[in-house]
Amino acid sequence: MSKIDPCTLVLFGASGNLSRVKLMPGLFRLDSIGRLPAELKILSVGRQDISLAAWRDEIKSMLDAKFKKGYDPKVFERFIARNYYHANPPNDPDAFKNLRAKLVFDTVFPQNIAYFLSVRPVDFAPVVDQLAEVGLVTEKDGHWRRVVIEKPFGTDLPSAQELQKSISKHLKESQIYRIDHYLGKSALQNILLQRFTNTILEPIWNNQYIDHVQITNTEMLGVGDRTQFYDSTGALRDMLQSHILQTLALTAMEQPKDLTPEGVRDAKIKVLEEIRPIPVNELDKYAFRAQYAAGEVNGERVPGYLEELGDSSSVVETYAALKLFIDNPRWKGVPFYIRTAKRLHEADTRISIRFKKAPMQINDQDQNWLIIGIQPRECIKMEIQSKIPGLDIKTRTIQLDAANRQEGDDTVDAYEALLLNLMEGDNSNYLHISEAEAQWRLVDPVVKAWAENRKPVHQYPAGSRDPEASKVIFEAEDQFWRYSIELGGDKH
Ligand code: BG6
Repeated sequence: MSKIDPCTLVLFGASGNLSRVKLMPGLFRLDSIGRLPAELKILSVGRQDISLAAWRDEIKSMLDAKFKKGYDPKVFERFIARNYYHANPPNDPDAFKNLRAKLVFDTVFPQNIAYFLSVRPVDFAPVVDQLAEVGLVTEKDGHWRRVVIEKPFGTDLPSAQELQKSISKHLKESQIYRIDHYLGKSALQNILLQRFTNTILEPIWNNQYIDHVQITNTEMLGVGDRTQFYDSTGALRDMLQSHILQTLALTAMEQPKDLTPEGVRDAKIKVLEEIRPIPVNELDKYAFRAQYAAGEVNGERVPGYLEELGDSSSVVETYAALKLFIDNPRWKGVPFYIRTAKRLHEADTRISIRFKKAPMQINDQDQNWLIIGIQPRECIKMEIQSKIPGLDIKTRTIQLDAANRQEGDDTVDAYEALLLNLMEGDNSNYLHISEAEAQWRLVDPVVKAWAENRKPVHQYPAGSRDPEASKVIFEAEDQFWRYSIELGGDKH
């Protein structure tokens, strides 16, 4: 357990959804397991002018909604006493001066300060500018100042670079914490450890043995009430550009020189930069998009995306798949198929690795698979050939199945882990600017080509498996999406 300096966490957008559902409950849980420094104070900043008592009541309602089975009243007393409120009315020219007065002159607040910007992306740069103007991000007298920027960091490469240019006028890279919440998931952190703390995986983790890799995410949920946001974003930018490419980086990176934030991030940056740009003139062989149509999920009829949006002309994808190649000696020639989708038949995120054919082939045998389940099941599975007991020489596929999560293990939400890392000053699970840039550089040409092509997008019924039409991106006839983590999940 690393030591955390006494610090103040300033939450911008504290009454928003992220704060209600993840941040406040996450901080409360960290407090209940004794992981918050005794001196930690939380200053919520909001537009509304409300009293401290009213804000504390509001926090209570957030916790009540999250912890339906109740919580320890002693921890609650301790937690609520850490919480303060500051009204920052949008049109008040002195808003940030007042914030500074409160933070700096009120001795209750420790001077190591982390600002969590859970605000609209257009407000990231202006908030940092205003904090800087009143001197709130300057590190002095041995005190640190850190700023957390929520996803998305830009909407394409130029806007990410512009945001970077703006905030780096005031902040060093070590002060900037760019969120990709998947990096806070224990299952993702496990990829690195499973690969490099075992001797049995690394020797076969290359193009000599691996036929192809699939990194896939599916949700049964639709876009819900986020239609406007989603229609300006799409699946490619919402999930592939961020969470799935980070999962790919952890799966494909070389061994880091050490487990320091620099070591891990350098290795990820290197592999992200080695991904070959997608040839836009052959886009149909490398990228596939689709939209969910009406269908049935969990026995319930659900409308299609265009219906939910109320605009039949939208070409924004709810299913996005790419084929990528990594130009380095380890991965030369191995396709990485990545895909994300809303409203498919199951909710599942995993890495599925198919190995090449064994030199000895008995009957019509399957190839070996190694599957790393990220969610909902955190597991590692291996499919191997084994003799069917009896007089004949015949094989069948059996599955070795190990749960990474065992009864009694801690269930830590990604945001809890990330909040702790933030206070510890460990940004290895946050994005470096070079990662954000490499990810945008890769997807931007596809986003642009898709936006320009106004032909109606392929439709798949909600609740179905991958559309057959997505086959176009596969290199070989015998390759297609594995539809499930279970034995037989590679058969269609
Ligand atoms: C978010 C996306 O970043 O990640 C959502 O904006 C998506 O569209 C979500 O549903 C998935 O996160 P998780 O942790 O539920 O897999």
